[in-house]
Amino acid sequence: MIPQEFIDEVLSRTDIVEIIEPRVALKKTGQNHSGLCPFHNEKSPSFSVSQDKQFYYCFGCQASGSALKFLMDFDRMDFRSAVEYLAQRVGMEVPNERQVDRGASERRKSIYDVLEKSAEFYRDQLKHHEKRDRAVNYLKGRGLTGEIARDFGLGYAPPGWDNLMKKLATTNADRQLLIDSGMLTDNPEEDKTYDRFRDRIMFPIRDLRGRTIAFGGRVLDADAKPKYLNSPETPVFHKGRELYGLYEARKRVRRLERLVVVEGYMDVVALAQHGVGYCVATLGTATSTEHVERMFRIVPQVVFCFDGDAAGSNAAWKALLNTLPAMEDGCSARFMFVPEGDDPDSLIRKEGQEKFENRLRKSMGLSEFFFRHLSEGLDLETAEDRAALSKKAVPLIANVREGVFKELLINELSEKTGLDMQRLLGATGLDREVPPPDGPPEEYGAESLEPQSPQRSLRLSRIGEHATSILLRQPDVANLLDDSDLAKLDGIPEWQMLAELVRWVHQAQDASPMLLLSHYQGTPYFGELRRLAEQDPMLSQDQLAEEFLDTLRKMLQDSDLQQKQKVIEMLTRKPLSELSPEERQMLANYRRNIPQN
Ligand code: UTP
Ligand code: MN
Repeated sequence: MIPQEFIDEVLSRTDIVEIIEPRVALKKTGQNHSGLCPFHNEKSPSFSVSQDKQFYYCFGCQASGSALKFLMDFDRMDFRSAVEYLAQRVGMEVPNERQVDRGASERRKSIYDVLEKSAEFYRDQLKHHEKRDRAVNYLKGRGLTGEIARDFGLGYAPPGWDNLMKKLATTNADRQLLIDSGMLTDNPEEDKTYDRFRDRIMFPIRDLRGRTIAFGGRVLDADAKPKYLNSPETPVFHKGRELYGLYEARKRVRRLERLVVVEGYMDVVALAQHGVGYCVATLGTATSTEHVERMFRIVPQVVFCFDGDAAGSNAAWKALLNTLPAMEDGCSARFMFVPEGDDPDSLIRKEGQEKFENRLRKSMGLSEFFFRHLSEGLDLETAEDRAALSKKAVPLIANVREGVFKELLINELSEKTGLDMQRLLGATGLDREVPPPDGPPEEYGAESLEPQSPQRSLRLSRIGEHATSILLRQPDVANLLDDSDLAKLDGIPEWQMLAELVRWVHQAQDASPMLLLSHYQGTPYFGELRRLAEQDPMLSQDQLAEEFLDTLRKMLQDSDLQQKQKVIEMLTRKPLSELSPEERQMLANYRRNIPQN
């Protein structure tokens, strides 16, 4: 990967006429140069080179492009050689990968640096600014002590447009760094930059190593808007991945055994103030599977603590859906609902640590919430509603990783619906070897579990989900695939949906994410596609295409490997005497490469 800035710089120092002239006879005609097109046969010149635009164009065959493109097409150079050739002419050296990486990592380092300095500045302002009383009184009013403010590194961004800028930016480069770190807002149209956070309580967001990676800022006035302002995405901060308070929880609690997920910054800090030091908050986003996976790497139990109202219940259900794919044996997830009218902050201030922790202990297990939510409005005394429950539950359970937890869900579903376990196992993919029993359908078995239900063909592998979520975010990437790629996707049942999406983009005029989704509205795929569309692949726009191709490459490799293993398995089962010499060789190679134990 050669950085785009480098290529731009090389091209800006190159004159396209000097590149083309030695290869094609050109004549100056008005503004441009023209000649016989080297890319198709012609008798009168329709090939034109613009020095202003640094661009060539053929009116005959529509060939066009930059100096770089010309070298690739005319001299048949590959991309890298063409860049190297041009770079050498202008005395530049193509950076190698390590240099590129070093450049990026140095940039990140300076961003961490300036964020730390900003945090220090805000902390200092909370101690010394002339209006510090306002901020201190606010924090006291919310029941926080100086000690807790120190542990969470709370600070104060004073009123005014340029306090931070004046303090930290002496040069233009400093200013740019502050912009890249999200600390300054810049308005290129008016050529103005100013402090993003003004007159706010500052919550530094820290990564697991304790480095400040972003800020949340809360207003002091009840009615100023927005109540909380967060840093934008930067090279060191990806909202959908981070959890506020994780670093602090690890520091406060010697042996973390569980994490409690709450909604707000203030909830986290207030809970810590009252002795519940193991809480984290997502940063104004829904809990993602990635969040849950991160937590399960640290603790075996996660308790979601949401408001008891409809919004809280929705958020909890969403969290449940995103937790299902992260559930592994040995992990548990629970749900606690705060009584309506309170939030965790006000609740713990009223009740104190012990009662709050009692509530945590009495929280609802994931499977209980799962079935409770799905059974809402159903009467499980009736066969019809039992069938409806299994219809809703089966596709969700099918997405859970194989293991004890999945079996538990199936067990429970079987108990609740009276449906045959064996059949449920088949429908949820836990035991694909067992075909559904023949014979007349039972009372409510047959319709509720159509084995060919469309949801099943959408059971993508994780990696397939990743590719699909990229495609849904930027449908254009489909155009990177051609028909032969599509044929390969078609060959694998789990990827047919992806193939279908690619095909749809190919024929669409303007494939925006919205159009793509709305095309599937009303089909059984829609729910799953919408879920994938909401998954944030955590990549910048220009990384998406690359990641998409990478992912597909991996998918194809995996399936090659599986094919190979199938062949090997087949060969192993045959008696040695029946193998051809080539087959023996294959087996021997295989055994040599993969130690069998
Ligand atoms: P809440 O509005 O529930 O606030 O936002 P809260 O945490 O109870 O705040 P206090 O008690 O009034 O101080 C919950 C979370 O949603 C995000 C923040 O992460 C906040 O902590 N949020 C909220 C924003 O990002 N922006 C907003 O304007 C509001
Ligand atoms: Mn609150």
